[in-house]
Amino acid sequence: MLVTENASEHTRAWPFETRPLSDVMGVEITDIGMETALRPEFFPFVYEAFLDHQVLLFRDTDLSPETQVAFAGCFGEVEIHVLDQYHGSGLPEIYLLSNLGADGNPTGEHPDPGTMHWHTDLSWRPRTGLATMMYAVEAPREGGETHLCDMYGAYQSLSEDWIGQLAGVKAIHNLDFSRTRRQGWEPLTDEQRAKAPPSTHPILRTHPETGRQTVFLGDHAECIEGIEYDEGRSLVEEINELIAPEELVYQHRWEQGDLIVWDNRCTMHRATAYDTANDRRVIRRCTVNGDAPF
Ligand code: SIN
Repeated sequence: MLVTENASEHTRAWPFETRPLSDVMGVEITDIGMETALRPEFFPFVYEAFLDHQVLLFRDTDLSPETQVAFAGCFGEVEIHVLDQYHGSGLPEIYLLSNLGADGNPTGEHPDPGTMHWHTDLSWRPRTGLATMMYAVEAPREGGETHLCDMYGAYQSLSEDWIGQLAGVKAIHNLDFSRTRRQGWEPLTDEQRAKAPPSTHPILRTHPETGRQTVFLGDHAECIEGIEYDEGRSLVEEINELIAPEELVYQHRWEQGDLIVWDNRCTMHRATAYDTANDRRVIRRCTVNGDAPF
């Protein structure tokens, strides 16, 4: 498989057209719809585009929850999230991010404020997230964007000193920390906490399929293995600051019917704020399990 340092610059003979989403990363697949993309004769090419470009976009998709889960299932095993209060659309594989209340009107509350900090989905699990797929049922008129940051680029931007300092260093990722203690939003129940113990992962990792070096940290990272807690926390915060400069970020402004899938092994992401009292944002998310980082 061809993988270059400047993957966005090469083209392949794919049976669909693509258009770059930004100078940083990502392509839109422009001329095939979901029904075609998940067919076995097409999906291997879609997956190749996913590995090459880190982020894929399909526009104007009319996607049922069942088709979304089936498409996510082409990438791997779909996670049933431990935060079961988000299960939605009648399927446990769907994590529903909606600011609408039972009466169908905006509540004025963000459904998951922790998502507004740079993170990687499922980094707190022993097997971390491979892909995340998000579908916009309703998109806000302004804001509520999803920003994605290129972690291959982050690795390449690190000085030799940083790379030397971080080689072999592992961070402890903990959903109970990010959710309960850092964000203070709907703390985990005892049962959820028991199902989501902390996991330890290298900060510098190798992408298991492209072989490229990448940085793996974000808001679920609490502290550093083998280092005194406060010192580890400061280091996590310093690196998190360092690895998400503006020039490595693709900003996705949602339109209804957009479907995005990104590679969690070489990106971080965050949501941006929107007018939760007057605008409507309903996003269905599926996350696909990957491997233990190395
Ligand atoms: C997420 O962090 O998984 C969701 C991001 C978003 O709502 O844009």
